[in-house]
Amino acid sequence: MATRLYVSRDAAAQALGADETVMALQAVAKARGVEISITRVGSRGMVWLEPLVEVEHQGQRIAYGPVTADQVPALVDAGLFDAKPHALRHGRVEDIPYFAKQERLTFARVGITDPVSVDDYIAHGGYVGLARALGMTGAAVVQEVTDSGLRGRGGAAFPTGIKWKTVLEQQSDQKYVVCNADEGDSGTFSDRMLMEGDPLTLVEGMTIAGTAVGATQGYIYLRAEYPHAGHALREAIANARARGYLGRDVCGSGKAFDLEVRMGAGAYVCGEETSLLESLEGKRAEVRFRPPLPAIKGLFGKPTVINNVISLASLPVIFQKGATFYKDYGMGRSRGTLPIQLAGNLKRGGLVEKAFGVTLRELLYDFGGGSASGRPIRAVQVGGPLGAYIPEAHFDTPLDYEAFTAIGALVGHGGIVAFDDTVDMAKMARYAMEFCAIESCGKCTPCRIGSTRGIEVIDRIIAGKDREANTELLKDLCDTMLNGSLCGLGGMTPFPVTSALKHFPADFSTKH
Ligand SMILES: Cc1cc2nc3c(=O)[nH]c(=O)nc-3n(C[C@H](O)[C@H](O)[C@H](O)COP(=O)(O)O)c2cc1C
Ligand code: SF4
Repeated sequence: MATRLYVSRDAAAQALGADETVMALQAVAKARGVEISITRVGSRGMVWLEPLVEVEHQGQRIAYGPVTADQVPALVDAGLFDAKPHALRHGRVEDIPYFAKQERLTFARVGITDPVSVDDYIAHGGYVGLARALGMTGAAVVQEVTDSGLRGRGGAAFPTGIKWKTVLEQQSDQKYVVCNADEGDSGTFSDRMLMEGDPLTLVEGMTIAGTAVGATQGYIYLRAEYPHAGHALREAIANARARGYLGRDVCGSGKAFDLEVRMGAGAYVCGEETSLLESLEGKRAEVRFRPPLPAIKGLFGKPTVINNVISLASLPVIFQKGATFYKDYGMGRSRGTLPIQLAGNLKRGGLVEKAFGVTLRELLYDFGGGSASGRPIRAVQVGGPLGAYIPEAHFDTPLDYEAFTAIGALVGHGGIVAFDDTVDMAKMARYAMEFCAIESCGKCTPCRIGSTRGIEVIDRIIAGKDREANTELLKDLCDTMLNGSLCGLGGMTPFPVTSALKHFPADFSTKH
């Protein structure tokens, strides 16, 4: 019998040489006359171990990593195919501490199944949730989502059930479900990993949403820089359609729902939901005035559910195991789990799915292993380029929407970027203004003009020119941007700026 191996086809693994490792494994096996079969899977999220090679041995998957192509011959000689000991052997994946300490609900199948195989998906619990949802009324489905406590994972943490209820209640000849897969935040990659590693979970989640609220068409607005995810999604959609999970009569329910992938236009603001809708309609991505909300007048003026990838991909497990099961994870009003992304100056970057409540310190040190440089971690930015900079004094804050608001920060999409003590926080504050100036859609003055003036004021502060007066001016400008901007781009740029000023004032002095 052929020895079964699993190697990730995730973009990060490929960037680290996974394809070359696969070719080397095939070549060495052929040369030694050993029969092997390699399944390309999603990544387990332990990026520092990629390319990770898993060998099936006595019903278990034994991990070796990082396995580069040049190491393959020696590893095979040492008994890789029989899961023999080696310096790169880590035992069962589930026993690796980084993995063992996680609570994988949304990412339960990622790294285990063939991403585009409907059979493999079903064999691992897929489509149980949809079958249950199809047996319920739209109102009952919406209630279940509300009961689960799910809040939008795209950044704003708005209760998903409330959004769906609004769409359900609209009378319209056409409704849509749009998945926000623009994933523009720095240090984030959970959407990408999910779409590459288990796209059928997103397909199932969108089908639950569509059939519940009465939408017959769904669009995945995919970041243009994610070609691997695009391939995986298109293949998964075609396979689901061929098996009757998409189309005019989803699973014989009499309900229609189908899906298309659309490539994004490449600006950060395309991720803001109303400019995303403009872009989907073929126009320039410019933010719309609200009201009306997209739930009432969204894509092409029709009621539209617009949710982030992870919000939608959390639905299958909620319907498979029930709202109470999901709600039992988490703390306060932050229910369920969050796929957290560890990035920046950390020893062990990667994806950690945990229930809300885990502290930053646990994430940075227990999972992340501290800084890669070996120097003290001085600041972390959570929630993308518009997230606040958090100092060490707040590292014991639990990951919880309300706890983060209380310290002037945000959880956002769960991306954590770590900086060691060599970081210059004045430069980081300046960068936030610069980012806003470059990415502004230009529709409103506080953001369009304010960000450019913001760069100038910070430059004057750094140069020591009239520092006190300019610091006051900067605070005033931030206040105007916060309260006067039309969307979160201009409205949240003050977070990194004022947090840097507040927690790291010394960096804004010339003596620094
Ligand atoms: C400037 C800006 C960029 C955004 N980028 C994204 C993004 O890349 N992905 C995303 O899901 N949400 C993004 N959002 C949030 C969306 O506007 C919206 O809240 C989200 O798609 C709603 O889905 P959810 O309720 O499932 O989170 C962004 C918001 C702003 C203001
Ligand atoms: S805040 Fe910036 S990105 Fe948002 S609408 Fe105004 S100009 Fe456009």
